[in-house]
Amino acid sequence: MNFPRRLPVLGLALALVLALAGLFGAAQFARAEVPYEPVRAQAGKDVIWIPTSQSLVDEMLLMAKVTSNDLLYDLGSGDGIIAVTAGKKYGARAVGIEFNPKMAEFATQRAKKEGVSDKVTFINGDIFAEDFSQATVVTMYLLPTLNLRLRPTLLDMPPGTRIVSHAFSMQEWEPDLTSTAGSGTAYLWIVPAKVAGEWNIKGLEGAAPGKLTLTQSFQQVGGTMTVAGVSQPLLGVQLSADKLSFSFMGADKAMQSITATVTAGNLSGMHTANGSIKAVEATRL
Ligand SMILES: C[S@@+](CC[C@H](N)C(=O)[O-])C[C@H]1O[C@@H](n2cnc3c(N)ncnc32)[C@H](O)[C@@H]1O
Repeated sequence: MNFPRRLPVLGLALALVLALAGLFGAAQFARAEVPYEPVRAQAGKDVIWIPTSQSLVDEMLLMAKVTSNDLLYDLGSGDGIIAVTAGKKYGARAVGIEFNPKMAEFATQRAKKEGVSDKVTFINGDIFAEDFSQATVVTMYLLPTLNLRLRPTLLDMPPGTRIVSHAFSMQEWEPDLTSTAGSGTAYLWIVPAKVAGEWNIKGLEGAAPGKLTLTQSFQQVGGTMTVAGVSQPLLGVQLSADKLSFSFMGADKAMQSITATVTAGNLSGMHTANGSIKAVEATRL
């Protein structure tokens, strides 16, 4: 009978199995416990990750005049600093779009820790595929080429949408405001209404309908006012979001001015001439 002699061998084998299981379990536990930490300049789909400094984030949100009524989208949201600050400081709703799933999860955890996960969320997706058309504020820290790829989409957003970019421009679409914080620079654009074209304008004092001709390059607008066959250049034209204002010379050589709000196919506002202010209306020809 050799059974008793096998006992120590079996005991040793069992101890070995238990020790290995313990080691394996500890290794698994250690792996699960190591939190993901993004590394500065790590690769990203179209651009690497470098975070915007807190001071420039604060400045960017101030430039955009973010409030609790806003829905901010940060395109390429990295560790979530912009979206989380918008939620925490201004009570804004914010969404970050981030291609790296680990970064998106990292930012989600950050929003949780900062107590804003009811307002601030992160989508693991591509900024060129996700829909951010509901945004009232768009922030980004990308690259000049990426800003240019996004430009047509941004210009099609409702007039008044604020776009803030860290570091990079939109080429010939000049910023409405530039500001710095620390060593960083940020640019703000306000999406302008599309006003280019010919407008039939009614309400000019003592005159038949006039023709307003507007040319536009982003927020820069020029044009002429034609009344009774006489064209005058528009002077001091300002377009901000859907608000348009300009002056022109009347037949009596006195200056007249118009301030109006532009909606799809319609322009309505006030006409000032010889000290009197009257309603004016224009429709696209
Ligand atoms: C320079 S970081 C800016 C991060 C953050 N917006 C900030 O200002 O701190 C750019 C981020 O965009 C992400 N990214 C790159 N290409 C992307 C794409 N096509 N769609 C979504 N995210 C992208 C990168 O992973 C990175 O986290």
